[in-house]
Amino acid sequence: MAKDPVRVLVTGAAGQIGYALVPMIARGVMLGPDQPVILHMLDIAPAAESLNGVKMELVDAAFPLLKGVVATTDVVEACTGVNIAVMVGGFPRKEGMERKDVMSKNVSIYKSQASALEKHAAANCKVLVVANPANTNALILKEFAPSIPERNISCLTRLDHNRALGQISERLNVQVSDVKNVIIWGNHSSTQYPDVNHATVNTPAGEKPVRELVSDDAWLNGEFISTVQQRGAAIIKARKLSSALSAASAACDHIRDWVLGTPQGTFVSMGVYFDGSYNVPFGLIYSFPVTCANGEWKIVQGLSIDEFSRKKLDLTAEELSEEKNLAYSCLS
Ligand code: NAD
Ligand code: LMR
Repeated sequence: MAKDPVRVLVTGAAGQIGYALVPMIARGVMLGPDQPVILHMLDIAPAAESLNGVKMELVDAAFPLLKGVVATTDVVEACTGVNIAVMVGGFPRKEGMERKDVMSKNVSIYKSQASALEKHAAANCKVLVVANPANTNALILKEFAPSIPERNISCLTRLDHNRALGQISERLNVQVSDVKNVIIWGNHSSTQYPDVNHATVNTPAGEKPVRELVSDDAWLNGEFISTVQQRGAAIIKARKLSSALSAASAACDHIRDWVLGTPQGTFVSMGVYFDGSYNVPFGLIYSFPVTCANGEWKIVQGLSIDEFSRKKLDLTAEELSEEKNLAYSCLS
């Protein structure tokens, strides 16, 4: 029997990530090839015509899984009945800016859209915040939507996770699909800590630790980390626009694994609100290694954290605490 359609909200849908993301969702990349979807697309009034153009293209693409499209500038209409909300709406940074420089413009959007989601989304709606500063926008959304369960609010660090997989695969000249269990700790910013201490590569001789195969600690503890941390800025420099296709693809990966589960023995990175695991302070949306099953994420426990890593976990937590204070000062 055909499944009931799932309603997926994409805010900022007329923007560049939106334009890459909505066809992926309509093709089943996010929720699977047998899951019909109804797309809810929100943007602001100046982008209404362009949003309507995206809707026309969705019709023209004749996606078999796409059972309806709501394209609107009305946040209540956009949020009504949605099961999944991908929050991309906001302003991207330009060359030379840090992600927190877009703070004042973006956090107020998340405060106001929190209440629309809380009141009008389906019960148990899963929320993914993509717009920057992603962790802090997600935290503001959580704080101003107290009836949405904390576990349902997350932010995107899967792009950084995928970037880390990509760098290891290039360095070792192996398929990216053979690399797994890198971790992004902390903020989706230049203080994030891409950690390979638990990462492995599938080789003809079995699974091998990345540290054994790369055997160049200077690269793993230096250039690898800074390349992943600075990749967003490198894309902006090259394209004069921030990453879009990789961000859209990572958003699909994030939701797919959350809803459908992570493969056995594999963990992924998600920004989530949690419980002081790994001595990360309470009250932040922080990226952790997680596994997912039955629509729930769980932080991978018991991984060893060496002194080098500890400092990096703490540094990115400190930045998130500062961002939180800055966000509240922008809202007051
Ligand atoms: P974009 O400017 O192309 O599109 C953003 C869209 O949001 C625009 O169409 C704009 O009109 C719309 N918008 C603005 N305010 C809105 C509001 N209140 N409600 C609904 N829509 C609104 O930007 P983009 O390149 O698509 O990037 C979107 C965001 O995602 C940026 O903040 C960017 O920095 C961030 N980003 C995050 C990641 C990540 O990994 N977390 C990766 C790439 C980009
Ligand atoms: C990215 O990581 O590509 C995005 O967060 C865009 C940015 O500002 O870096």
